[in-house]
Amino acid sequence: MVDGAVEALRTWGAGSTGSRLVTGSTTLHATLEEQLAAFCGAEAALVFSSGYTANLGVVTALSGRGALVVSDARSHASLVDACRLSRARVVVTPRADVAAVDAALAARTEERALVVTDGVDSIDGGIAPLRELHAVCRARGAVVVVDEAHALGVCGPGGRGVLVEAGLAGADDVVSTVTLSKSLGGQGGAVLGPRAVIEHLVDTARTFIFDTGLAPASVGGALAALRVLREEPDRPAAVLRVADELAEMSRAALTSSQVGRGREGEVPLAGQLPLTGSAVVPVVLGSPVVAFDAAARCLERGVRVGCFRPPSVPDGTSRLRLTARADLTTTELDRVRTVLHEVLDDVLAEVPA
Ligand SMILES: Cc1ncc(COP(=O)(O)O)c(C=O)c1O
Repeated sequence: MVDGAVEALRTWGAGSTGSRLVTGSTTLHATLEEQLAAFCGAEAALVFSSGYTANLGVVTALSGRGALVVSDARSHASLVDACRLSRARVVVTPRADVAAVDAALAARTEERALVVTDGVDSIDGGIAPLRELHAVCRARGAVVVVDEAHALGVCGPGGRGVLVEAGLAGADDVVSTVTLSKSLGGQGGAVLGPRAVIEHLVDTARTFIFDTGLAPASVGGALAALRVLREEPDRPAAVLRVADELAEMSRAALTSSQVGRGREGEVPLAGQLPLTGSAVVPVVLGSPVVAFDAAARCLERGVRVGCFRPPSVPDGTSRLRLTARADLTTTELDRVRTVLHEVLDDVLAEVPA
């Protein structure tokens, strides 16, 4: 990946020199677009400077005044901001509630409607009910936008994403977005979908038109990472195996720290969560102070984990977010197990009964 980025940097320079529509497009951008689309089974793709701008661009360009946007309550902040910018009427439906989406679409007066959701929930790793959602959208004449930020490189056959897994890739009423910054390890984003949609975005998506094109080094790095994914198709399954292990050890650590305090039966939410089928493993601790403290203590012991607190998550559900990597060794996983046990014992012991 680094070699791919360095080669692109040397060939094309440090920046892309301008907006994609003016001077910021290189053949490397076009190659990445072709390869991303081919990998994920879409007709075409358009690279943006980030996943955030990809989401803003696609939602605003496909909606606008006179349209309805139905957004899942757990949509990523970039989709939420996209809804706000869209000037469309926005209805927020409860998480993964297909019946509520159906009702919102059925009751609309607007001709055009867009339904937006994360494919993999970025907070708890759950997978959206895409087949059911798509059936409802098709019946009601709405387009679905699925954010595959946490799915690319992890879910679906060879990491091709949850749309491929659901048999929906390439459908003419389905659009997806990806980030190049998670499993691909770089930076940037893209929208994937029917060629007509991509051509429309080139002409209308403001975050494509008025933003400097993605830096060549990021494009080269992403191309190299995609090559690794194609050539090592077992990596995504390895991520999911590691995620399962992390989920099991988190559950065990939470349970033992509760039992140790004589509070069995009060195992926090994560203890009840099923395995997620994604790289995201939540460890719900409740208070933001406790979650922050736990993340800091993990880091002191050499284990870097995310800490999610409001406004990223609802009040009372602050958590650690562990993220699985394909290359974690057994020794590293053993270390994580020990650290989680120690840290959760310590921080939960300090929570008043
Ligand atoms: C679900 C989801 N969508 C979009 C984004 C934004 O992607 P980027 O960081 O490339 O802007 C993220 C990043 O954290 C994300 O988790």
